[in-house]
Amino acid sequence: MIYKITGQMLRKLSIDTENKFLTEKAISIKQSVKFVQQKYLRKKTPTMKLKAFHKLSYGLYLVASEYQGKKSGYIANTTFQVTSEPEQLAISSHKKNQTTQVILDSGIFSVSVLKKEVNMKIIGDFGFMSSTDIDKFKGINTITAKTGAPIVIDSSVAWFDCKVTNSIDLGSHYLIIGEVLDADEISDDEPLTYKHYREKYKMLSPKNSPTYIDKSVLDAEATTNIGEEKEPEHEHEYTFDGKCWVCVICGFTYDPDEGDPAVGIPPGTAFEDLPEDYKCPICNASKEYFKEV
Ligand SMILES: Cc1cc2nc3c(=O)[nH]c(=O)nc-3n(C[C@H](O)[C@H](O)[C@H](O)COP(=O)(O)O)c2cc1C
Repeated sequence: MIYKITGQMLRKLSIDTENKFLTEKAISIKQSVKFVQQKYLRKKTPTMKLKAFHKLSYGLYLVASEYQGKKSGYIANTTFQVTSEPEQLAISSHKKNQTTQVILDSGIFSVSVLKKEVNMKIIGDFGFMSSTDIDKFKGINTITAKTGAPIVIDSSVAWFDCKVTNSIDLGSHYLIIGEVLDADEISDDEPLTYKHYREKYKMLSPKNSPTYIDKSVLDAEATTNIGEEKEPEHEHEYTFDGKCWVCVICGFTYDPDEGDPAVGIPPGTAFEDLPEDYKCPICNASKEYFKEV
């Protein structure tokens, strides 16, 4: 739209070359168009490696808010402190997340820092379901922050209570900045890192995460770089003829070599031998949602 209008203006202005003001204006608009094109239309270079983005470090957090009595929350890896005076946190929140609208409406949010041994049901419910479809807070221990935001204290080592001070539209996401009005440490347990989560569950970022990368693009990079170090997701040696099973809902990979010891499935259990009521440990999907890869 911006380019269409500017092009029309340019054509109109260039007709009147006698008029110095208009000619200068046309040149200045041309320069602006060039700047905008360079800034926003720059294509990534063919040599750009998306794998590099996996070297960025993150933690894992639960962002929650409440508006007019309706609680909402989601799992986030993009949460970080941006200033210390005053203390401010930033979150990158997908526009399609129900919680994003709740935060923008209420002007408040909490951040819980998840612990390494997180209850995976929390990741499944808050990271793969919508607050419009289920009550994510049922059976979850929360306290109410000074701002009024719900704070999830289950599986958490610390929390922050924030008042929105700014938000920036990034296209798919809003970068939301919040001033921390209160905070507390809950336990000395180790916080969960995104690296640990990815390596343990062999998962890539889900689509709504700002760090999402299409798996086929990563796979293509991996095959064009024979001899280079491989991503953890792809480097595992499978003894079941390379057979693995991926949950088509959340992307969790069932590896027969590893089994699922958390629910009593020993390493070396073929997918076919899993009990019929086996559920994806991340999103709770049943066996029929798994696809062989
Ligand atoms: C590991 C992981 C990291 C995520 N990181 C983000 C994130 O930083 N920002 C975001 O907007 N969504 C992120 N998501 C996706 C949301 O948690 C997910 O879309 C959630 O279902 C939204 O819930 P809601 O619609 O109830 O708000 C992440 C999900 C997972 C599992």
